[in-house]
Amino acid sequence: MTSARIIGTGSYLPERVVTNHELEQLVETSDSWIRERTGIRERRLVGDDQSCGDLGRIAAQRALEAAGCRGEEVDLIVVATCTPDRIFPSTASALQHSLGLRPGGAAFDVSAACSGFIYALSVADRFIRTGGASRALVVGAETMSRIIDWEDRGTCVLFGDGAGAVVLEAGEQPGVLSTHLHSDGRHEPLLYVPWGPGQGYAALESQGGYIRMRGNEVFKVAVNTLTRIVEDTLASAGVDKSQVDWLVPHQANIRIIQATAKKLDLAMDRVVVTVGEHGNTSAASIPIALDTAVRDGRIQRGELLMLEAFGGGFTWGSALVRY
Ligand code: ACO
Repeated sequence: MTSARIIGTGSYLPERVVTNHELEQLVETSDSWIRERTGIRERRLVGDDQSCGDLGRIAAQRALEAAGCRGEEVDLIVVATCTPDRIFPSTASALQHSLGLRPGGAAFDVSAACSGFIYALSVADRFIRTGGASRALVVGAETMSRIIDWEDRGTCVLFGDGAGAVVLEAGEQPGVLSTHLHSDGRHEPLLYVPWGPGQGYAALESQGGYIRMRGNEVFKVAVNTLTRIVEDTLASAGVDKSQVDWLVPHQANIRIIQATAKKLDLAMDRVVVTVGEHGNTSAASIPIALDTAVRDGRIQRGELLMLEAFGGGFTWGSALVRY
């Protein structure tokens, strides 16, 4: 049976480092508050001259290089982002061109906020397993700094910019074993961006185009949902939690990550944690964490990975992957 296997990973963080101490100059906060509540020490932010597509392109180039694969061999690109360069063309179409991927292959963006990478991985996996593509680039890229209100201490300390990517290839060896996608739109008021084209341009001035979040309520739903989804994922795949080698979670908050690890009975040294270095990079955070642990030699070929994410929508999802 055809399976989609990860044959290369890549990631990129913009150069500008912004520490918690720098944020103390912007809003009433402290390094110790941010570290204790979130685990974040610093984040990376783009300058005016870099866009989501630029970050995604570098991460994707690194993934292609690691896969030993030429651009024209890739016939599908899916980009997960909630901060695309433009309304259209999609960031994926722009990257298809700039990366020299096969012209005429499929290219589209997926919008599922922080769960975006799991959604994009799931879609690409289904394309490959049903013969719709033979090699796919799955990219998570975000410039969250462009939709942050830098006067709102409840959100501005949490997010950062970055990108990660994987190359998937069709083959007989096991790869993506199962993916699980969910959404419940009833929770929109807890986490959303008020402005979009549907609101009209007058609303941009009155409402602003920045993230609004009731963090404490999001936190509670996120912990409950993620601990439930890891159990459901294992049960539906017939896998015991003792068989999971690595948890590669969405990097939003160390306390949410610790709660999920506890549910899996996984020691924290089997959990990939990068949130301290880049904050919440939304759809980019899972492929950044995955690439970090592959490149530093923690994640080895043949190991079983649990990927999971939760975000605006609400959306949430998971993937079991034999690396
Ligand atoms: N610095 C100092 N104080 C702050 C800050 C800050 N940056 N932000 C909020 N506070 C204050 C609040 O005003 C409040 O003060 P009060 O008691 O005087 O009213 C106090 O700290 C406690 O606020 P809470 O919101 O209850 O703090 P909590 O422990 O819940 O931590 C946090 C807040 C970090 C936002 C947490 O709720 C969280 O991480 N939520 C999840 C949000 C998230 O990750 N969203 C991203 C998308 S979804 C996802 O990716 C999972």
